[in-house]
Amino acid sequence: MKILGIETSCDETAAAVVTDQGQILSDVVLTQIELHQPFGGIVPEVAARAHLEFVDRVVNDAMVQADLSFGDLDGVAVTGGPGLIGGVIVGVMTAKAIAMAHNLPFIAVNHLEGHALTARLTNNVAFPYLLLLVSGGHTQLLAVRGVGEYTRLGTTIDDAVGEAFDKSAKILGLGYPGGPMIETRAKLGDPKRFALPRPLRGKPGCNFSFSGLKAAVKRQVDALPPGKLADQDVNDMAASFQAAVCDVIRERTRNAIAQFKILCPDGKTLVIAGGVAANGALRHCLDQVAIGEGLELAAPPLQLCTDNGAMIAWAGIEHLQLGHINDLNFKPRPRWPLDPGAPKVGGAGIKA
Ligand code: KG4
Ligand code: ZN
Repeated sequence: MKILGIETSCDETAAAVVTDQGQILSDVVLTQIELHQPFGGIVPEVAARAHLEFVDRVVNDAMVQADLSFGDLDGVAVTGGPGLIGGVIVGVMTAKAIAMAHNLPFIAVNHLEGHALTARLTNNVAFPYLLLLVSGGHTQLLAVRGVGEYTRLGTTIDDAVGEAFDKSAKILGLGYPGGPMIETRAKLGDPKRFALPRPLRGKPGCNFSFSGLKAAVKRQVDALPPGKLADQDVNDMAASFQAAVCDVIRERTRNAIAQFKILCPDGKTLVIAGGVAANGALRHCLDQVAIGEGLELAAPPLQLCTDNGAMIAWAGIEHLQLGHINDLNFKPRPRWPLDPGAPKVGGAGIKA
């Protein structure tokens, strides 16, 4: 089975062809980073226009690299939400057109589910597993029991962790996107120089909070002697910030593992997913957590942690194998929680 996956929900225009045997026949990602850089963050209108301009070319490149024509496909999967709605509409219209013209099954995939199932494509992970999803719009801990069977154990009550990376990077004058820049500068810095808070540490449960951490970065940067931030100040703050994030995630993940072991006693794996899972320090720290708790850590390769079409194609395959397809009346969904029954917490699930 060969499926085309299309992803346009954020600032990457991406398409890939994946087989049900887990082969990635092509994986094309066109990033819009340069377009958004002057604004210090993603501008939804700019993103939607760029997706519209480039999606046909990206899809075509993915088909050429896979050496296939549309008629060779067994289906078309696309991110149907959650995300920036202008971009999602572009992807969904493109996928519907291909499905209609070539009489192919159409599968609307939840972007978060794309991240959530990636480790099954890359690491062949069996259900059930505990998932830490850390991206620009989400920070969640979920028990994944099967396709479409998600129990949310924790989420952020304010900012997502990727958002905290991006905003802290902006305060430090590091530009957009902040995560990779903070990681690079943190390697050169002293993580003990600035005392930053560890929000919610010691509290029961597995929810997260990051807005206080970002505010503390701002306060401490503002308190430095006036003038341009010295390189060492930036390095030290980046290191201190990253250490605080790792401490918080370590502790909340341990709490989640305790709940997961009760919920899914046969679960053996901790999976990380989403753009922030590309962070080496965080991967190392979670590896230690997993070893300490008797679980295996599964972390997809870096390029499949950030947004891509392969994860959407794979989620499409998992759905198609279960006979799940959508009709062409599917409406793009700006919000689409993985666990609709989870209790509402402040701010959670609002962003892409
Ligand atoms: O999953 P993703 O590509 O897009 C969303 O669905 O949000 O995640 C993007 C987020 C951004 O906030 C970016 O700064 C962060 O992932 N990120 C990182 C790293 N690479 C990307 N954060 C920390 N360290 C990294 N190496
Ligand atoms: Zn994402």
